[in-house]
Amino acid sequence: MTSHDVTLEWTGGPSRTIEVAADETVLEAAQRAGVRLPYDCRKGTCITCVGRLLALDGGGADADTDAEADSDADTDEDEDETDRPLDAADWFTYRRPPQALTESEGAEGYVLLCIASPRTDCRIEVGPRVRAAVGDSPWA
Ligand code: FES
Repeated sequence: MTSHDVTLEWTGGPSRTIEVAADETVLEAAQRAGVRLPYDCRKGTCITCVGRLLALDGGGADADTDAEADSDADTDEDEDETDRPLDAADWFTYRRPPQALTESEGAEGYVLLCIASPRTDCRIEVGPRVRAAVGDSPWA
């Protein structure tokens, strides 16, 4: 079964790498590993579990990004590539629509960990500062 290594990074604090199976969400994998993350609804409506995609990790990303890698080859400005937010929709599969996030928040890398399964190894910022950076859910 396919799985991905996800490193959870608390802002200014520790980090922890967990293995997320293909049929798991990040929150489920964290709980299985004994890592505490905030959550409430587990349905993508309250925004309590929000994290932010920081970077793609490992060789798995290359395998998954052939199309993007080809288009990126036309760009010589690597610094711009690393500074650009990663769109969560490109790197996670949602079990249901992430209603608590706007499309632009998702494009900035915000991801609802209770309903999201990663498609690649990656690093995700978690914790209260990430939650504070996004607005309140319209559904909560
Ligand atoms: S726990 Fe409510 S949106 Fe994830």
